[in-house]
Amino acid sequence: MKPIGAAVVGLGWWGRTIAGLLKGNSKLSLVRGVDVSPAAERFAAELGIAFSNDFEAAINDPAVQAVILCTPHSQHCEQILRAAGAKKHVFCEKPLSLNRADVLEAVAACNANGVALAVGHEKRFEPPVVELFRMAAAGELGTLLQVEGNFSQDKFLAMPADNWRLSEKEAPAGPMTATGIHLLDLSIGLLGPAANVCARVRQLGSGLVNGDTLGLLVTHRSGSNSLISAILATPFDGRFALYGSKGWAEVRDKAHPEAPQGWVLTVNSRNQQKKTKEYPSANAVLANLEAFADAASGRAPYPVPQEQMIANISALEAVFKSARSGNIEPVDNGDRQ
Ligand SMILES: NC(=O)c1ccc[n+]([C@@H]2O[C@H](COP(=O)([O-])OP(=O)(O)OC[C@H]3O[C@@H](n4cnc5c(N)ncnc54)[C@H](O)[C@@H]3O)[C@@H](O)[C@H]2O)c1
Repeated sequence: MKPIGAAVVGLGWWGRTIAGLLKGNSKLSLVRGVDVSPAAERFAAELGIAFSNDFEAAINDPAVQAVILCTPHSQHCEQILRAAGAKKHVFCEKPLSLNRADVLEAVAACNANGVALAVGHEKRFEPPVVELFRMAAAGELGTLLQVEGNFSQDKFLAMPADNWRLSEKEAPAGPMTATGIHLLDLSIGLLGPAANVCARVRQLGSGLVNGDTLGLLVTHRSGSNSLISAILATPFDGRFALYGSKGWAEVRDKAHPEAPQGWVLTVNSRNQQKKTKEYPSANAVLANLEAFADAASGRAPYPVPQEQMIANISALEAVFKSARSGNIEPVDNGDRQ
C-alpha cells in the first residue's frame, strides 16, 4: 500500500498537531506544507517537507494527492472548491463551512470531481463514542430521547484579542466553532437533522469579547433535544450523554483530544446494575485521518455520511442567527418540514 501524499494547509496550532501525528504514517505521507507565515516556513524546514505560501503551488504539485485544511474558518469553502477542482482529496478541519449554501457547494464539488471529503470531527472516532453509536443503532438504549453534552476548555484565554479565532467573522457565537460544533455533529449523527435551535452566548468570565459561555438547545426533527454546553473560560471538560427509553450511556473524556488520556463510559440500563468501563488512550484525530486515507484510496467509504455534514452546517448557521437575534431560529434543511 502506497501512502497518499498530503499537504497540510495552515501550519498553526492544529496543522502542526496533525503534522506531528502523520510522522511515519503508512496511509498518509506529509509531503508539503502551506502557510502565509514565516514561522510556519521554519517548521516545514525542520520537518524536511516542501513549503509554499501559495495554495496553488500545493494543488499543482503532482506529489500532493490530498490536502488537509487547517486554515481560518471563512477560507474552508473556497479552499475545498479549489482542491476538488484540481482532483485532490480533501480533509477539512471543522467547521466544514460557515453556512449551508457553502457546504452544499463544497460537497457537490468533491462529488463532481470524484474526490473524498472528510471533516475534523475526531470525537466520532473515539472508541467509547463508537460504542455509544453502536448501542444506539442496535436499539440497546431504546427510543433515543435526549442528548446532554459539554465540551469546554481554557486554551484560548492567553490568545491576543485580535486572534482570528476570537472574531465574530471567523468564529460567530463564541465557543460554537471551537468546541460546540463537535457536540452538534455527534447529536445530529445520533438524533438526526435539527428543526430549530436556541443559542445564548455571553462574555461572563474572561476577556474573550466574542463570548466565553454558550448554552444551546437543539430540537431535532424527531422531537428529541440536545442540550449543548461549551465554555472557554473554565478548565477542560468533555462529557457526552445519550438518554433512551431503555437506558442511557455517558462518555467522559479525561483530557483534550490534542493529548488524549482515555475515557470512561458509563451505561445504565433499566433493571440492570450500572456499568462503568475505562478506555485507554487512543488517538482519535489520527484514526479520523486514516479513515480519510482509506476513503481517498477507495478502501472504505468515509464513515461520516455527507447528509450529516450538511445537516450539521445547516444547524450551525441557525445557531449563529439565534445567538445574534436571541430568538429560536428554524434550521433550513432544504425542505419545508
Ligand atoms: N479538530 C479539533 O479538535 C481542532 C482543534 C483545534 C483547531 N481545529 C481547527 O483547525 C483549524 C485551524 O485552527 P488553529 O487553531 O490551528 O488556528 P491557527 O491560527 O493556530 O492556525 C491557522 C494557520 O493558518 C495559516 N493561514 C491563514 N491563512 C492561510 C492561507 N490562506 N493559506 C495557508 N495558510 C493560512 C495561519 O498563518 C496559521 O498558521 C480551524 O478550522 C480550527 O477550528 C480543530
